[in-house]
Amino acid sequence: MTLLVTGGAGFIGSNFVLDWFKASDEPIVNLDALTYAGNLANLASLQGDARHHFVKGDIGDRELVDSLLATHRPRAILHFAAESHVDRSIHGPAAFMKTNVEGTFTLLEATRAYWVAMTGEAKSVFRFHHVSTDEVYGSLKPDAPAFTEAHPYEPNSPYSASKAASDHLVRAWHHTYGLPVVTTNCSNNYGPYHFPEKLIPLMIVNALAGKPLPIYGDGQQVRDWLFVSDHCSAIRAVLAGGRLGETYNIGGWNEKTNHEIVHRVCALLDELSPSAAGPYTRLITHVTDRPGHDRRYAIDARKIERELGWRPAETFETGIRKTVHWYLDHADWVADVQSGAYRAWVDKQYG
Ligand code: NAD
Ligand code: TYD
Repeated sequence: MTLLVTGGAGFIGSNFVLDWFKASDEPIVNLDALTYAGNLANLASLQGDARHHFVKGDIGDRELVDSLLATHRPRAILHFAAESHVDRSIHGPAAFMKTNVEGTFTLLEATRAYWVAMTGEAKSVFRFHHVSTDEVYGSLKPDAPAFTEAHPYEPNSPYSASKAASDHLVRAWHHTYGLPVVTTNCSNNYGPYHFPEKLIPLMIVNALAGKPLPIYGDGQQVRDWLFVSDHCSAIRAVLAGGRLGETYNIGGWNEKTNHEIVHRVCALLDELSPSAAGPYTRLITHVTDRPGHDRRYAIDARKIERELGWRPAETFETGIRKTVHWYLDHADWVADVQSGAYRAWVDKQYG
């Protein structure tokens, strides 16, 4: 048996692959285009490991996907590959439409052809797992109940619109063609190997470098935060027992304002790596808000708990402490990432 993982060199995908091999010897074929966000250094510990087969390639390359499916005969596809950063989607939406919408379409069509030709038990156990986001549901009022799976789709950014479109394609391929799919919609992840363009790693990395900590607008936007290994365990639970055609929301039960997040990161750094110049909060700067910035996301994760018995193992306190420790221990990884495309992007965004 084999899994095909797309986007397995990115933040969540690489955590998924690494966690998978802690508990299973089932091989993974990892298809990743290695965009600026894909980093093979995340998978360095798997070098020479026969269970991991990395393929550099695009999910939109039908011939390549067809040949990988024919050669490796996966029992499931876990689709992580995407353009994932909201700010980048505002500056340049085209790549998001290409990968998240067209790429998912191509992957679904290749999967359909593969699945239609399958027979027997292989066909009955096969599934396509689409990894998506809570951002497809749009923005919540301060006292509104958290997103359930029945919440209407109201995507507000080019990123969330492209993910919503991909969710709709996955749904339609199930409804029309009977493709065995399941979709998970997850809140903001954080943890090891998180690319430092996203809030938490950016704040850690900038603080340690004595650079400004840019908070958009008033910093009172709320996100739910989920430690990445909890997301990976939820995906394993859905892969093992999720009902086909269903969607499952995955969240950490940790609603926090951006202001709270940045202050917590600063306090942990003051404790673990104090600066002679004084508390890290001195670096906080309020910058122009993101256009169309969603005010609040919150996840109601009761369905996955009820049906599959999954709950996050980490609290925000334990998860953020592990995360800050990881970045302090992996200065070499950060230095590696902070070159080339990443630096150009930071200049464009904050310069
Ligand atoms: P990421 O940007 O860190 O990684 C994306 C990976 O996909 C990279 O390795 C990149 O090289 C690869 N990729 C991009 N385009 C590709 C293409 N055309 N073909 C093949 N590979 C391609 O993203 P992430 O944070 O790991 O997110 C993974 C998935 O989880 C995405 O689908 C995202 O929408 C979803 N998600 C992320 C979060 C979060 O907080 N990061 C929350 C909810 C859902
Ligand atoms: P981000 O990590 O980009 O994730 P998303 O937009 O997908 O939720 O941003 C998380 C929150 O942090 C979001 O409300 C935007 C805010 N933010 C800042 O205030 N400053 C920053 O430099 C970044 C990158 C994000």
